[in-house]
Amino acid sequence: SSKVFKLNNGETIPALGLGTWQASADDVYKAVLVALEAGYRHIDSALAYGNEEPVGRAIRDSGIPRKEIFVTTKLAPIDALDPAGSLDRSLKNLGLDYVDLYLMHWPVCLNKANKSHPGIPLLPNGKRDIVFDREFTETYADMQRLVETGKTKSIGVSNFSIKNLKKLLASPEFKIVPATNQVEIHPYLPQTDLLEFSKKHNILLQAFSPLGSSNSPLLKDETIRKIAEKNKVSAATILISWAIWRGTVVLPKSTTALRIESNFNVIDLSEEDGQELENLHKVTGVKRFVSPNWDPIDVYGEE
Ligand code: A2P
Repeated sequence: SSKVFKLNNGETIPALGLGTWQASADDVYKAVLVALEAGYRHIDSALAYGNEEPVGRAIRDSGIPRKEIFVTTKLAPIDALDPAGSLDRSLKNLGLDYVDLYLMHWPVCLNKANKSHPGIPLLPNGKRDIVFDREFTETYADMQRLVETGKTKSIGVSNFSIKNLKKLLASPEFKIVPATNQVEIHPYLPQTDLLEFSKKHNILLQAFSPLGSSNSPLLKDETIRKIAEKNKVSAATILISWAIWRGTVVLPKSTTALRIESNFNVIDLSEEDGQELENLHKVTGVKRFVSPNWDPIDVYGEE
């Protein structure tokens, strides 16, 4: 799908982008080239994924003009004290002059001596090494200054709950409404309240793990399969189409050429099919496949 959404600052963002989390350097280079060849114009990466270098190299090798591709990367929690330096590092990794969107990956600051998530080592006491005297509102204030440098066109957040968004919007340094908030969303975790809050505040939601990540029960779900058969498309296509139908950016990850190509084919869902998916979690229960919760206190087990 070449559909685009408008961000709150007037920039446009392709509704469908390629996710690159959990893709090795070799795989991700090929995946990005296949995706760009198939028509994708939006690639989502992050410093913490450890694959900005091959992502950027594929973008440069594709021969497609830089300005036609929407590139996102994210500030890792270990770099929360220095967003400017970290963005420079990401741009160097990517081999690009700017990104289209720079997200705070997580509303937390981790000790730089630690590795970033995933795989954050626990302290000997079994806890995460959080820098508690660095508020995410301060990190965001630093990110706001990056827009003037031209090194990113837009800024946003990721893994933010309504509670943390409210705290951000009410902070004294706050000036720029986040363009997006990227969170886990699929029919077992529809994030209905967050979607409503985000629409009200003109923040676009971006759905990561829209297929339920690896070994997902979503692709085997009877209701989703039934809707897929009725529409003569794959279960993955139904999940991707539903995300766009309800007004969210969708970032399916694949390193398999045929799937990358097939995932680009979005259909217009009927109101009936869309609503059935909207209500599916009421039957299956709410299931989170990736992040346990977004509050650092819950995530990192501090009391
Ligand atoms: P692979 O990368 O090996 O192709 P999510 O985007 O929710 O995180 O899901 C990613 C997972 O879904 C990966 O394991 C990916 O496998 C798999 N996947 C991506 N597209 C499809 C598809 N069209 N059909 C089945 N599985 C898919």
